[in-house]
Amino acid sequence: MTFVQQEDRKPVIAILTVADPYRKFCGNHANFRDIVKTGKQLGYLVYVVTTRDLKLNEDQIQGYIYQTDTKQWVQQWVPLPDVIYNRIPNRGQEKKVFIQRKIDACLNHPRIHLFNPFFFNKWKLFSWLKKSGATADFVPATKRFGTRSALAEMLNEHAELYLKPESGKAGKGIMKLTFDSQDSKPYKLIIQNPERNLIYKTAKFPLLWRRIRAEMDKTPYIIQQAIRLTRYQCRHFDLRVLVQKTSRGYWSVTGIGARLAGKKRITTHVPQGGTVEDPRDMLLPTFGPEGAEELLERARASAVTIARQIERACEQTLGEMSMDLGIDEDGKIWFFEANAKPMKFDEPKIRQKSLQRLFHYSSFLSRTNKV
Ligand SMILES: Nc1ncnc2c1ncn2[C@@H]1O[C@H](COP(=O)(O)OP(=O)(O)O)[C@@H](O)[C@H]1O
Ligand SMILES: [Mg+2]
Repeated sequence: MTFVQQEDRKPVIAILTVADPYRKFCGNHANFRDIVKTGKQLGYLVYVVTTRDLKLNEDQIQGYIYQTDTKQWVQQWVPLPDVIYNRIPNRGQEKKVFIQRKIDACLNHPRIHLFNPFFFNKWKLFSWLKKSGATADFVPATKRFGTRSALAEMLNEHAELYLKPESGKAGKGIMKLTFDSQDSKPYKLIIQNPERNLIYKTAKFPLLWRRIRAEMDKTPYIIQQAIRLTRYQCRHFDLRVLVQKTSRGYWSVTGIGARLAGKKRITTHVPQGGTVEDPRDMLLPTFGPEGAEELLERARASAVTIARQIERACEQTLGEMSMDLGIDEDGKIWFFEANAKPMKFDEPKIRQKSLQRLFHYSSFLSRTNKV
C-alpha cells in the first residue's frame, strides 16, 4: 500500500467566474487559458467554474477545461475544488445577491479556501492605510466627495486635485481640478476621455460645482491631493507592482512594471494613450543608476508593507494584488490604488512568475486549516 503524504497531494483549483450566454463564461479567456496550461505543467487539476455551476454540496460539478488540440473550452465533470481563485469579472456582477450568497457560502465552507473575495473600494483603501503608522505616509490627502464647502476647502489646501470614482478602473471618470489665481478663469477642470482631454474653465465656483456634479452623475467619488510626479520626457509615469503570496504564505513582489502617460494625459492607462515601459529606463534620467535601484528596492519594500496592511484591515484572505505607486519629484513613494483582480502583466518574466506563484500560494492555502 502506498501512502500519499498530505503535503504531496496537489490541491484542485477552480477559477471562479460567471456564466456568459455567448462565450460560455465571462472574464479574460486568454488569462484563464494560461493559468490552466501552467497548472497542467505543474501537475495540478485546474478548471474554470461559473457561480451557477459551483454547487458546494455535490461531489462532482461541471467545470471548463481548456483543450489544447481543439483550442476549445469543454465542460466536464470535475471534483469540488480545494482552493477557489475568485475572478468574478466586475463589481456589477459581484453585487448580485445570488453571487454574494455563493461567495459567502465558499467563505463559510469548512474545507474550501477562497481568496480575494471582493473588489477594493478606493475610499476604503485609503482609510485602511491611514490607520497604520507604517503606511499612512504613502497616502495622498484624500476625502470623500461631499459638500461644496469641503471641495472649496480642499482646493484651498492643495491647488491641484484628482477626482476619482470610488469604484473606478482604467482611468474611467477621472478628472483633475486646478486653481491658478493668475488666470482670469482660475478654475480648470480636466476631464479625461479615451481620445482626448476635455477642458472646462471658469471664474465662478458655483458653475464649476455644477459641472463637476453633472460629470459625476451621482456616482461616489473621492477627492485627492494631486502629487507632482517625476517625469520622463515631459510625461509622468507610475509603477505597477504585482504583489503575491509565496509558497510559505508571505507577501512578496513578483515584479514591477511602469506605465508612461500619453502626452498631456492625466493618467497612465494604455487605453488612455499610456505605454508599457521598463521602470529602470523611466527612473534613470532623473535618479541615475544607483538612485533608480534604490528607488525600486524601496518600492518593493513599500508594496509589501502596504499589502500586509490592506489584508489586515480588510480581514479577508488575499493572495495577490496589483498596486499603482507614484514617485514624486523628491523621490518619495505614493500609493494611488490597489486592485484585487490584477490584470495580466504584459512583461513576460512577471507574467510567468505570477502564474507559478498562483499555484505555490494555492498549495500553501490548501494546507492551512480554516478557522
Ligand atoms: N493623487 C494623484 N496625484 C497624481 N496622479 C494621480 C493621482 N491619482 C491618480 N493619479 C494618476 O492617475 C492614474 C489612475 O488613478 P487610479 O487611482 O489608479 O485610478 P484607476 O482605478 O482608474 O486606475 C494613476 O495611475 C496616476 O497616474
Ligand atoms: Mg489604477
